[in-house]
Amino acid sequence: MITVIGSINMDIAIRTDIFPKQGETVLGNLFTTIPGGKGANQAVAAARLGSQVQMIGAVGQDAFGNELYANLKNEKVHVAGITKTSNSTGIANILLHNNDNRIIVVPGSNFDVDQQMIDQNMDFIKQSSIVMLQLEIPAETIEYVLDVCEKLSIPVLLNPAPAANYKREWIEKVTYLTPNETECEEIFGTDYETVLKKYPNKIIVTLGGDGAAYYDGNKIVKVPGFKTKAVDTTGAGDTFNGAFAHAITTGKSIEKSVEFANIAASLSVEKFGAQGGMPQIEKVNARLEDMK
Ligand code: RIB
Repeated sequence: MITVIGSINMDIAIRTDIFPKQGETVLGNLFTTIPGGKGANQAVAAARLGSQVQMIGAVGQDAFGNELYANLKNEKVHVAGITKTSNSTGIANILLHNNDNRIIVVPGSNFDVDQQMIDQNMDFIKQSSIVMLQLEIPAETIEYVLDVCEKLSIPVLLNPAPAANYKREWIEKVTYLTPNETECEEIFGTDYETVLKKYPNKIIVTLGGDGAAYYDGNKIVKVPGFKTKAVDTTGAGDTFNGAFAHAITTGKSIEKSVEFANIAASLSVEKFGAQGGMPQIEKVNARLEDMK
């Protein structure tokens, strides 16, 4: 079982052809609310591929919270670890422009995910073959989970996004760290190849359409991505992480897991919304076949 401990957001997406300057008003061409949150997205990505996924997180007692809870249940993510708290459900304001996005997250109830909630769900953690974390819940909770997993010898995949919330000492306690190139440079203050060489088989840097790279102890392995026409890149990194966790916990090597995750991420950007294009296993396998 994969346990995801992380955020559950309602994504409030707005698309515009003109990016407003400070003080300017422009007309957009799309507004919609869709399920998101890095934690929930990664949980859905792994569940669609066939993993058993337990989510530990929090939503508010409001309409968004109810909708997000129902969405996860519908996606066959186990929801017994989700608490409804008195804060508002987390939201993400997503500005879509020129096939790219800018996101502002207001964490709301995601910041209620605390040590007590982790303790209440300890049985799920104990049964996990991997625990997945991102950085949209409090840093103290991340630290607590890292300590718990270290004591229990449970592998941890930490996706350090948003990178500003990352603490450098966490590297010692994670099994896999999965920044994108910008996050990697922000965290370590140098180019990603230099960083990779210090952490063999631990850091996997995602490179957008160019795939992903890691260091195997001898050389940097660059696993190419699948070039596709992107409709919406929101959630591509989350799909990569969920798919990587699925692959690595089903016995694939790091290289094969990265290849699998690249393909899942390429499929995810072909549809609108963070979770909209996340593929089922058959689609990933079909594209892998096509690439041979
Ligand atoms: O990674 C994409 C996600 O980041 C969005 O779904 C949004 O909710 C933010 O958490």
